[in-house]
Amino acid sequence: VSDTAARLAELEARGLRRRLAPPVGRDLSSNDYLGLAHHPEVRRALIAALEQGVPHGGTGSRLLTGEHPAWRALEERFARWQGAEASLFHATGFAANSGLLPALVQPGDRVLSDALNHASLIDGIRLCRGARVEILPHLDLPAVASALAAPWSGTTWLVTESVFSMDGDQADLPTLAALVRQHHARWIVDEAHATGLYGPTGAGCIEESDVRDAVFASVHTAGKALGGAGAFVVGSRDLIDWLVQRSRPFVFSTAPAPFLAHGLDAALTLIQSDPERRRRPRQLADRLRVAIAGRLDPGASSSHILPVLVGSVDRALHLQQHLAGRGWEARAIRPPTVPEDTCRVRLVLHADLDEAEIDRLAADLLAWAAP
Ligand SMILES: Cc1ncc(COP(=O)(O)O)c(C=O)c1O
Repeated sequence: VSDTAARLAELEARGLRRRLAPPVGRDLSSNDYLGLAHHPEVRRALIAALEQGVPHGGTGSRLLTGEHPAWRALEERFARWQGAEASLFHATGFAANSGLLPALVQPGDRVLSDALNHASLIDGIRLCRGARVEILPHLDLPAVASALAAPWSGTTWLVTESVFSMDGDQADLPTLAALVRQHHARWIVDEAHATGLYGPTGAGCIEESDVRDAVFASVHTAGKALGGAGAFVVGSRDLIDWLVQRSRPFVFSTAPAPFLAHGLDAALTLIQSDPERRRRPRQLADRLRVAIAGRLDPGASSSHILPVLVGSVDRALHLQQHLAGRGWEARAIRPPTVPEDTCRVRLVLHADLDEAEIDRLAADLLAWAAP
């Protein structure tokens, strides 16, 4: 048996071997929070762009032949929405985070990172050669305060998500903003799960908390509420110009196909013009949290992401199967995505679900909890 086969068998034995499976059932799992991945207006915009001859191939890095006015226009629009000077689109959020951090952090700097930050932030931090890295307990404000207060001769970077992807809980942005101002730290905020849902115009939690001035760089994925793929890094004009020089996934990757910019532009218009759609996922999650209170454990979730924490891999897979049998598409989340013994079924409430479905879902969940 080859080494790889043996390692696969070991994963299998622990219930941790993943298989690729297309979704089946009513969607409680995808990150298409606002239902824009299938929206007809986005489709129309994409088709119109193709028919007008906007390229469907990137042709080269944006530093070479891949530069196209559609991306520039979209980046400028996105930056205005975020109340920032500029933005730069990357082909994925993973590319954005793994390019941003090593482009900015220098040897002798210090990086403070929340323990539950996404793998793309972790990998970005791993690429920061010569920096000191401190992993802080999840959402522990006293730990952030004391780490920031410790003297450090280089630059200190604080890295956090605003809404956490697997727990659906939220960083206290106003308090973190006060701390980074007080200690002159540079703050990187990943708004992957907040963009399109939070804030008066849907720009995200930075907008909702009115802390843009304290943020050095924010990252906004387009594969979630925007219903497409890719990610905007947002910040000052100098920051963005620096990333054009030094974000390796940006520099050394083929540009995303220009016609896709027209789809994201249409998605932005839909998001900005429809506050009701933006509010729905969180309203529905509140309804579900109330319905299962005291019977199932949603952790500290306060957003449209509602994990049902069940502990073991077996229990998480069992709940996934129970829900599948009742027509729901929901996925067990297991290590290494989440720590050992915190397995869960991650429920995502989408704008196109209705109240009756939430009540039926609550009944199905409670039937599992007390069969
Ligand atoms: C917090 C966070 N940042 C970044 C990413 C990566 O984004 P993408 O899927 O566009 O690569 C994800 C999820 O995929 C995420 O949850």
